[in-house]
Parts: sequence; structure tokens; C-alpha cells
Amino acid sequence: MTLLRAVKGMNDVLPDEIGSWQRVEAAYARTMSLHGFREVRTPCVEPTGLFVRAIGEATDVVEKEMYSFRHHDEDLTLRPEGTAGAARAYLEHAVHAKEPTSRWWYSGPMFRAERPQRGRYRQFSQLGAEIFGDPGPGCDAEMIDMLVGFLGDLRVPGVEVLVNSLGGPATRARYRDALVQYLTPRAAELSAESQRRLATNPLRILDSKDARDQAAVRDAPTMSELLDDADRAHFDGLRRHLDELGTPYRVDARLVRGLDYYTRTLFEIKGAHDALGAGSTLVGGGRYDLMLAELGGPQVPAIGFAAGLERLLLGSGLAPPGHAVDTLVAPLGEAAASRALSIGRELRRKGIRCEVDTRGGSLKSQLRRANTLGARMVVILGDSELAEGVVQVKDLEARTQDRMPIEQALRIIVDRLMAASRSVDSRPPAPGQEKP
Ligand code: HAM
Repeated sequence: MTLLRAVKGMNDVLPDEIGSWQRVEAAYARTMSLHGFREVRTPCVEPTGLFVRAIGEATDVVEKEMYSFRHHDEDLTLRPEGTAGAARAYLEHAVHAKEPTSRWWYSGPMFRAERPQRGRYRQFSQLGAEIFGDPGPGCDAEMIDMLVGFLGDLRVPGVEVLVNSLGGPATRARYRDALVQYLTPRAAELSAESQRRLATNPLRILDSKDARDQAAVRDAPTMSELLDDADRAHFDGLRRHLDELGTPYRVDARLVRGLDYYTRTLFEIKGAHDALGAGSTLVGGGRYDLMLAELGGPQVPAIGFAAGLERLLLGSGLAPPGHAVDTLVAPLGEAAASRALSIGRELRRKGIRCEVDTRGGSLKSQLRRANTLGARMVVILGDSELAEGVVQVKDLEARTQDRMPIEQALRIIVDRLMAASRSVDSRPPAPGQEKP
């Protein structure tokens, strides 16, 4: 019988890899709480109409990439991103009536039927956040600065921040006209996809990877030439804040993003790790001051971002975390097995991560197991130790082995692991602080 395999572009995260994931998630949760964000969890499935309205009909995501299905009488879609669901939840629970501003973060799987390649998957995880009720530009700058700090915690090399302003709807409409006017006489030079986009969503042509499109837009007008006074003041404010914070950034007048809901501030953050290749965009975000009203709610300004967790892992300079437990309890023979279990329980009560080798086996094979687990300490318990009420404590780093009463063994194990700042309590280590 042939083995069943995972769906193309949807990957398992095996226990060997999960430590790296959990470390990034813990660092993210810490960053979020330092900035006053609280976690929200919304469903993975939403009504299809939510994404069509929020993201826009003429976007790649809605046109080609959604996993949509009909179930009984409902048209449903696996969420391709988190902003639309967060905005829906914010409106559904009338949060705007309860507090003037809300800072929400989320993490979880998203689904897009894209062509899988390194850093681009059909199920991927995003770490995201949204601020509702703050028109900026102060919080826009804080968000970008926070992300630069977070990527620094993850030791991402070559962080590059690109910012742009799309202006409000009037500017967007003027710019769209200007772009169509510029590109229409050059339509024959565009790719077939962009010729179609010229009628449906001309801004997306700026984002095309096709060399013909890139050549055609090289001298096209830019959005910044068309910003009105209020939009320009907003963008100037963002840049002033970033300058004063000393946050490095570059204005990219051609930056547009694949989702239609953006207004004013737009940003992307790239990393330069070799492993990233074409997927070098780690974070994308921006302001969407009109979306909530378009979803039927009040006019609430909003800004947010999302980072691809898999891409953060590819782009981070951190070594994978090491050990799975700190201590192995190794019973030699049937008679020692129950006592080994109770020693394991006592160690864990003291906050020590520990495995009892319940399969027993030879001392040699149990020491091999300790090595595989990355355990530093081994508590050995044979028939003679059992009879005398003692244990052998083997320290694999110090290369020592001593026979002692169990109480003394517990104390020594706690002391040595504390001194080496290994586990002993359950707090996740700060990124980069853990032992290899
Ligand atoms: P996005 O640019 O579509 O924005 O996605 C944000 C990030 O998710 C990307 O920069 C990338 O790291 C990751 N990502 C996207 N697609 C894939 C994929 N197929 N495989 C792996 N990673 C991927 C959003 O999703 C917006 N909701 C961000 C936002 C929040 N804007 C305002 N609030």
C-alpha cells in the first residue's frame, strides 16, 4: 500500500524543529506584551464574503489563492490572512464602543493556494497585530520600530525597512488615473497579466516581478507626487518619528502591496539571510483606515502587520535550541523501576525537566539516550543502590560520578543546573540566552 503524504505546500513541524518555533513565538508574545497588545484568537474559517470585501476582488489572494468551499448553504474560506477576521471580530463585538483604541495580536495558520517554494507555502503561520482606533502616525512609527527590535532579538541579518504612503482614497483614485494614462500607450510592452490588471487593478502592475512590466513602470509617476496635504503631513510625521527614534528605513515610492485595503502608511521589512532567497520579505503591513467602514462598521482608523513565521525561522541567525531534558533517571533492572519513577516525580516538582528511561536496558544504552536528549545529569539506580537507599549521580559535563543519598542528589542536581542556567523553572529563555 502506498503511504499517504501531507498536502503539497503544507508541512509537518516535527519535535526536532518545534523548539525554534516556540522560541520565536515566546519572543513575539513578550514583545507584544511590552507594547500593550493583547492576544485575540479568531476562527480559521470565515464567510468567503468577508475576504472578498476586505481584501478586494481584484487581488491575487481573492482571485486565485483562496481555499473556498460550500458547506450546506454557506460559502466559506480558510483564512488567507488574519486582518479581515480580526476586523470582523472587532466590529461583531462592538469593541469600538467599549474602548477608544485596541491593540490586538494573533498567531496561527493561514492558507493560500500559491505555488510552493522555499519560504512560500500553502499553509503557513503568521505572527500579526492590529491597532484599532489610532490614526497615527505615532503608532505607525512605534510599530515599525518595535518590529526592527523584534527582528534584532531574532538576530535577523540585513534588516531593511521600506516605507511608502498610499494616501487616502482620493489620492489613490488620482494615482490610478495617472498610472492608467501613463501605461495605456505602453500596454503592448506589458505582460499579459498586467495588460489585464491595467483595467482591473493597475497599482498591482508596480509590484510585478515580470521584467517587461518592471521596464514599463520604471519612469511611471509615483504616488508621492500626488499626495494631498493631509496625507503628506501624515507621511512626514511618520518619517520624523522614525528619524528621531533612529530607526533605519528607506522610502520606496513604488512600494504597493497585494491587498486592496491599504491607505496611507505602507511598509515591508526584508532580511538578508542566504536561506531566505526570493522569500526575503519577512513582514508586511500598513494602515487600513477605511476597511472597517467598508465592512459595515463605523469609521475606525487601523494599522497592522503580519510576519511569516517560517520565513522568520529561515531568516533568523539563531542556532536551533538544544536539549530536550536536563536529567535522565536510569533504572538498572525491574526492581529499580518504580523508585526511578518516584525520583523522576521529585525532580520535576523541583522544576527539573527529566525523563525516566522506562524501557530500562543496559547502562550503556541509557547513557546513549541521555546524550540524545542533551541531558547533563544522569541518576543511576541499580539493585545495590536500591538496597542502600542511595543513587549514583553522573554529571556528563563535569565527567564525575558520585554515590549519595537521594536528598543530596536532588540538591546537587538543582544547584548545578541553576548554575548552568538550564531549565529549573519553566520560563522560556530570552532569544539567544539559551545554551546550545
Ligand atoms: P501579507 O504581505 O500578505 O500581509 O503577508 C505578511 C507576511 O506573511 C509576508 O511578508 C510573509 O512573511 C508571510 N507570507 C505571506 N504569504 C506566505 C506564504 N504563502 N508562505 C509563507 N509565508 C507567507 C498580510 O497578510 C496582512 N494581513 C498584513 C497586515 C496586517 N496588514 C495590516 N494588518
